[in-house]
Amino acid sequence: MSEADKRLRVAVLGCGAVGSQVVRLLTEQRDDLTARVGAPVELVGVAVRRLDAPRDVEVPEGLLTTDAAGLVARDDVDLVVEVIGGIEPARSLILAALENGASVVTANKALLAEDGPTLFEAAAKAERDLYYEAAVAGAIPILRPLRESLAGDKVTRVLGIVNGTTNFILDKMDTSGAGFSEALEEAQDLGYAEADPTADVEGFDAAAKAAILASLAFHSRVTASDVYREGISEVTAADVASARDMGSVVKLLAICELRRGPDGHEQVAARVHPAMIPRSHPLASVREAYNAVFVESEAAGQLMFYGPGAGGAPTASAVLGDLVTVARNRLADTRGAGESAYADRAVQPMGETRTRYHVAIDVDDRAGVLAAVANAFADHDVSIQTVRQEGRGADAQLVVVSHAAPDAALSATVEELRRMDIVREVTSVMRVEGGDE
Ligand code: HSE
Repeated sequence: MSEADKRLRVAVLGCGAVGSQVVRLLTEQRDDLTARVGAPVELVGVAVRRLDAPRDVEVPEGLLTTDAAGLVARDDVDLVVEVIGGIEPARSLILAALENGASVVTANKALLAEDGPTLFEAAAKAERDLYYEAAVAGAIPILRPLRESLAGDKVTRVLGIVNGTTNFILDKMDTSGAGFSEALEEAQDLGYAEADPTADVEGFDAAAKAAILASLAFHSRVTASDVYREGISEVTAADVASARDMGSVVKLLAICELRRGPDGHEQVAARVHPAMIPRSHPLASVREAYNAVFVESEAAGQLMFYGPGAGGAPTASAVLGDLVTVARNRLADTRGAGESAYADRAVQPMGETRTRYHVAIDVDDRAGVLAAVANAFADHDVSIQTVRQEGRGADAQLVVVSHAAPDAALSATVEELRRMDIVREVTSVMRVEGGDE
């Protein structure tokens, strides 16, 4: 690259909540970015769906275009930032950009979780960078620590609150006693939840992030379809109250772990579901719409990363961080780390993954009931850790917390409890995390 050519030309695809903040930071921090990169970083185009749509930033004259394919095909574009989201046209545009010799920064968790390997292979073939820190937990630096800082260690577990919308709803339910619908409505009124909240509340967003985290942490390919997923729409005020009685709180967790399979080999277990965690656990103090990711590794021990997991400016911060790295690599005619999937570990089916359950049941208060309930657990080879009984006249409420057992055995136990005559109602079933197994 000659001195005169030492300019990094950036195309931004998408100018929504994140894209407009990327454009703002690129424009406002131009001088600092130039100093940090070592060459001018110049915005050369912004692809949008509609030229006249209202947007939060004034895009410099002449840079807006509706021709995203034409923008990535330009031979003077060095860096492409993809913040459109979704599968298509984002995938085709990223592939075209790489093929055309551009380096790519993306925030697209859904695409990476569904078809990451196609993108990584294209980046490797083109010998270009593909960076995506903003895809998981917004501003929180978590992918770089997994990909670089912990590259010499062995990560064994990643436990995260990676969806702000659901954390806000569950936090509201915990602090006010509200039910799910009421808390969701408040989240929508305050702009935390979308009008169609499905991707957040049913755990799809968190499952995509879990797939990305598990792939990086365990050097294996994990896609969204490998992640067991349950959302929070079935979490009731009774579940939250039951958690409170146990000194716990309900959180939607993304849990990625190394587990031994039946053949003794290490497998990857990845799941997203609501769980009760003790209030003393560091993740219990993550309130409102904040995110946090707790990482356990053999040498480093326990690490926690905390901060805003969504929003235009925080997500743009992560995009710009990647942009600076990718630009520096480009100037030095080098690349950062690519995909690392050498370990090729199998994904453990959820039924085989060892979990713990909290089960609250209303029963008749008479002789033999507790023994019959205990037998239902024993029949499925599930060991009970604690039992609490509260008398209520002719009835009683039993709250049983199990030791760890295969998830299939625990759900079969709950099914059997539901069929038993002495059980009036199973009032709360929830997995338990973060304590002794
Ligand atoms: N909708 C996500 C959240 C942010 O609520 O955390 C983008 O992934």
